[in-house]
Amino acid sequence: MMTAENPYLPSPMRVEKVTVETEDRSIKTFDLSFIRKEDEQAFRYLPGQFAQLSVFGKGEAPFGIASSPTTSGLLQFSVSRIGLLTRALHQMEQGDLVGIRGPLGSSFPLQDMEGKDLLVIGGGFAFTTLRSLINYVLEKDNRGRFGKLTVVYGARTPGMLLYKDELEGWRQRNDLEFHVTVDAADDGWKGRVGVVPTAVTDIAPTADNTYAIVCGPPAMTRYTLPVLEKLHFPPERVVLSLEMKMKCGIGMCGRCNIGSRYVCRDGPVFTLAELRRLPPEY
Ligand SMILES: Cc1cc2nc3c(=O)[nH]c(=O)nc-3n(C[C@H](O)[C@H](O)[C@H](O)COP(=O)(O)OP(=O)(O)OC[C@H]3O[C@@H](n4cnc5c(N)ncnc54)[C@H](O)[C@@H]3O)c2cc1C
Ligand code: FES
Repeated sequence: MMTAENPYLPSPMRVEKVTVETEDRSIKTFDLSFIRKEDEQAFRYLPGQFAQLSVFGKGEAPFGIASSPTTSGLLQFSVSRIGLLTRALHQMEQGDLVGIRGPLGSSFPLQDMEGKDLLVIGGGFAFTTLRSLINYVLEKDNRGRFGKLTVVYGARTPGMLLYKDELEGWRQRNDLEFHVTVDAADDGWKGRVGVVPTAVTDIAPTADNTYAIVCGPPAMTRYTLPVLEKLHFPPERVVLSLEMKMKCGIGMCGRCNIGSRYVCRDGPVFTLAELRRLPPEY
C-alpha cells in the first residue's frame, strides 16, 4: 500500500474498537479501519507480515498484523505497553486516528506449507501473527489446502492469554488440535500447567510432512528449538519470526541487519535453515 512517491508517508486509520486482552491491562487489541477506500484496497497482506503504526507527535513502531486477511474491512493489532509509542497507543479510544505504513516484510511461507501438517507454537504478544495464520488456515476456502493443524499456545498465567473468546471457539472445533498451557495456574484453571517447550515434549508431534512455526519470547524459542530438533524437524521446516529493533521498516536505514540480510525487508519470517546461514546476531 505504500505510496511510490514517499514510502515514509503513513495512511490514516480510525480506531473502531479497543479490547483489553490481559488482566494486567498491558496488552490491548486495536481494530482499525481505513479512512480512504483506496488505502484499504491497496493494503494486501498475508499472515506473518507487519506494519508500522504511528501516533502523531510520538513516532512509530512495528507491529505484527493480528487479523487474518480473510477478515475484510478492518486490521487488528495487539499491542503490549512497553515505552513511549505503545503507551500513546494504549491511550487511544474509539474514533481516534493513527497512521499506518505497510504491509511490510515477509509472510509465513504459505505456498511451501500447502499440503503439509502445521504445528503452530506460540507465546506472549508474538502470538499475534500466529493468530492471523490460524484464522487464515481455518477459513473455509483455505482449510483444504493444509493438513492437520496443531496449536500449542502458552502464557504466564490464565489472565495473560490473548483472544480468550476466540480460543474457546477453537477448542470446540474438530479440525484443529489445540493445546493451551500456563506457567502458573490460578484457582479456576483446569488445563495444562507448564512451559511451552515441556508441552511440546509431552505432545510429541510427528515431524513427518510437518512445518513447525514458532513465535514467542526469546526464552520460549531458545528452549523449544532443541525439542523440535529431538523430534527430527529439519531446519528447513522450522519457521521463526524475529523481532529486531527497526526504524524505517523498508530496508533503507540499515538499523535491523543481520549480516547481509535486513530483518524488516528479507524477514521478519525466516526458516531456521536460513538463520543458521547468517551470523548469530539475533
Ligand atoms: C516485526 C516486529 C513485530 C512486532 N510485533 C509486535 C506486536 O504484535 N505487538 C507488540 O506489542 N509489539 C510488537 N513488536 C515490538 C514493538 O515494535 C515494540 O514493543 C515497540 O517498538 C516499542 O515501542 P515504544 O516506543 O513503546 O518503546 P520504546 O520507548 O522504544 O522502548 C521501551 C523499551 O523497550 C525496548 N524495545 C523497544 N522495541 C523493542 C524490540 N523490538 N525488541 C526488544 N526490545 C525493544 C527498548 O530498548 C526500551 O528498553 C514487534 C516488533 C517487530 C520488529
Ligand atoms: S529497519 Fe531500516 S533497514 Fe530495516
